[in-house]
Amino acid sequence: MKFHVAEASPAEIAASWLIVGCFEGESLSPELMELDELLGGQLSRLSTRDGWPSKRGESLTLHDVPSIKADRLLIVNYGDESSPDLSKTYEILSGVLRKVASKEKQSAALTIPACLIEKFGETVLLERFAECATTACASQAIYRKERDRFELTEVNILGLPESPSNEEAIQRGRILGESINLTRELVNRHPNDIYPETFAARAVDAVVSHGVTGKILDEHLIENEKMGALMAVARGSARPPRVVVLEYRGAGEDSPTIGLVGKGVTFDSGGLSLKPSASMISMKADMAGAATVLGIVHACAKLELPVNILAVIGLVENMTGPSAYKLGEVLTARNGTTIEVHNTDAEGRLVLADALSYAVDHKADRLIDFATLTGACVVALGEELTGAFTNQQEWCDQVIQATRDSDELIWQLPMYDFYADQLKSDFADCKNIGTRWGGAITAAKFLEKFVDDVPWVHLDIAGAAYSEKECASRDAGGTGAMVRSIVGLLSSLNEESSK
Ligand code: BES
Ligand code: MN
Ligand code: ZN
Repeated sequence: MKFHVAEASPAEIAASWLIVGCFEGESLSPELMELDELLGGQLSRLSTRDGWPSKRGESLTLHDVPSIKADRLLIVNYGDESSPDLSKTYEILSGVLRKVASKEKQSAALTIPACLIEKFGETVLLERFAECATTACASQAIYRKERDRFELTEVNILGLPESPSNEEAIQRGRILGESINLTRELVNRHPNDIYPETFAARAVDAVVSHGVTGKILDEHLIENEKMGALMAVARGSARPPRVVVLEYRGAGEDSPTIGLVGKGVTFDSGGLSLKPSASMISMKADMAGAATVLGIVHACAKLELPVNILAVIGLVENMTGPSAYKLGEVLTARNGTTIEVHNTDAEGRLVLADALSYAVDHKADRLIDFATLTGACVVALGEELTGAFTNQQEWCDQVIQATRDSDELIWQLPMYDFYADQLKSDFADCKNIGTRWGGAITAAKFLEKFVDDVPWVHLDIAGAAYSEKECASRDAGGTGAMVRSIVGLLSSLNEESSK
């Protein structure tokens, strides 16, 4: 997809679609006024009639408009002009571009409303718009005979000067969009397509050409690492486990290394504590944490961010085969902690336990893990929010601030010591589940046992990573939640250190 920024007037650009914003209320936006003059007041007249997009999110398509070079004019309402909202604008534009991209060989020219530029600045907007166009054109229907979404041949963003900083902003947005698409695609792939071995190969393949070193630990190397918790989960499956270790060193040796750890359960049947069908159907997406880590590393490496990353991705399939791990079994995790298994469906924390301790021993200075860890988190916060948990408030505050800057939704949950009482075992150091109450928190308290004193944030993306329903701005399936926020965080970290 080719992007251009041009100061040209909207009327002069040849494109399949000219997309121009309007707002709630009486007056036309400055961009529409310009066109209105050319059209002898036609738009002013239309704006008082039925069918005009007078509410946020509504749109109107006019064909064969005289005096403009584009094939059609699409007028879309971005909402309240006096309080421009970037996240809503993004959603609305996604909806429009998804429609435009549903036919082959389409091109688009679009204007960015002046009120948005005033509030957020050129580069932020160009970055978001380019990301938006990149994600909108990618379909999630990867297994259908007929494609339902196509890359646009060309996207012209009008009304802004062609400058190196604007070009860079577009490039950043495009890279971020491609990374989100990568995360979504992996989440959407079915479990006989993406399993530990194939995920590992895809992961290394996606990033090695961008200055990342990749290492795949197979079942033998995993055994040498004494990852007894992760291996126990893998035992019930015909598919051997993998651990992927990616290293990207964009900053100097004295800069801290950020450890990113991902839960990659490529299918979670629940194991012997088997899930009912209705809960199992979406469990191909239980590797979303792993896919999120990969998307982030992909973006950081392609953006050449001056940051050091150590990514550890634990990949297993949780099944019920003859060697499946059993209730009552006591596992020894990589860090020596013994764990009594009370529920084989609480497998994610076992995988993360060993992946986190690996990252700690390989000198991660700060950690973030990503996991579709608990249904309890979805019960607590709903399907849109990510749950945040930490052992160090300052690091968590930085993560939360980054999500605010990126318009992603998150809520922190408490980590009082007493929650860990639920994990006491009669026979081992701990058991792998607590009671019915506070399940998202007891899962986090379990993970805390494997991070030593390293500042750590656990992100439970069980709700946010996967959506059963399509909405105006995206398909059903993987969402790519947290990729934008954490890439944002990692780019701002280096701003700090270069000061
Ligand atoms: N992968 C699930 C959590 C999940 C649930 C993710 C819904 C996405 C949507 C996890 O492995 C799991 O099964 N957790 C159990 C924990 C319980 C046994 C303590 C759960 O949430 O029920
Ligand atoms: Mn489970
Ligand atoms: Zn799971």
